[in-house]
Amino acid sequence: MLRTILLGPPGAGKGTQAVKIVEKYGVPHISTGDIFRENIKNGTELGKKAQEYMNKGELVPDDLVIDLATSRLLEPDCANGFLLDGFPRTVYQAEKLDEFLAAHDSKIDVVLDIAVEKEELITRLTGRRVCKTCGASFHVVSVPPKQEGICDFCGGELIQRADDNLETVTNRIEVYEAQTMPLVDYYENAGNIAHINGAASLEDVFGDIVKAIGE
Ligand code: AP5
Ligand code: MG
Repeated sequence: MLRTILLGPPGAGKGTQAVKIVEKYGVPHISTGDIFRENIKNGTELGKKAQEYMNKGELVPDDLVIDLATSRLLEPDCANGFLLDGFPRTVYQAEKLDEFLAAHDSKIDVVLDIAVEKEELITRLTGRRVCKTCGASFHVVSVPPKQEGICDFCGGELIQRADDNLETVTNRIEVYEAQTMPLVDYYENAGNIAHINGAASLEDVFGDIVKAIGE
């Protein structure tokens, strides 16, 4: 059983490490950002509402996110644990998640707080390319795909995310500092947070995550 949260600013490497965590621990990866992008792609009502906020780098309103995340957690594949990526993102979301879990005799085992400094986040996000098919992240300089423009994992096309331009990236980081950073204290008080240096290599970051979770 592993119930964990990946916390950290945009570009910290949450999605990148999620792939490795899922492979090792076999828990489902629940990224609210990925769910919203899927809805945008499919032209759903939720996607239309979320897109307005995402394109500006603002947070999608709490009520839309909380229902989405908690109903996902009720699906059978979450019975033996889950990896939340990008949720919760406000103290209110965290409180609602705790209430939901308590009502289901569950709790969070560990929160992985991945820290990277701002300059590096901007470099990572403006150079990021993501697979249109499987969502895997690459970087034009630091994590290049084996073949330019093609995903190493599934052969899909690599594209730039709509919110990875400099202006939106800068706002996303500011929104993180104002609205999501308070969660570090929230989980510090809960006593289940592990601090991970996200500036290290992909392998070293993963090594620290495994130490924090346990083998
Ligand atoms: P979301 O999709 O969650 O985006 P984010 O939090 O901004 O984070 P990113 O996905 O940009 O970064 P990441 O940490 O996953 O980094 P990655 O591994 O790709 O959310 C998008 C939007 O949806 C939000 O802005 C909001 O509008 C909305 N939303 C979602 N959830 C919400 C919620 N709960 N409440 C309200 N709104 C919500 O890596 C980044 C780059 O760095 C890549 O190029 C990668 O190759 C590279 N890289 C990774 N690790 C390393 C390393 N160790 N060394 C060098 N390069 C590295
Ligand atoms: Mg991500």
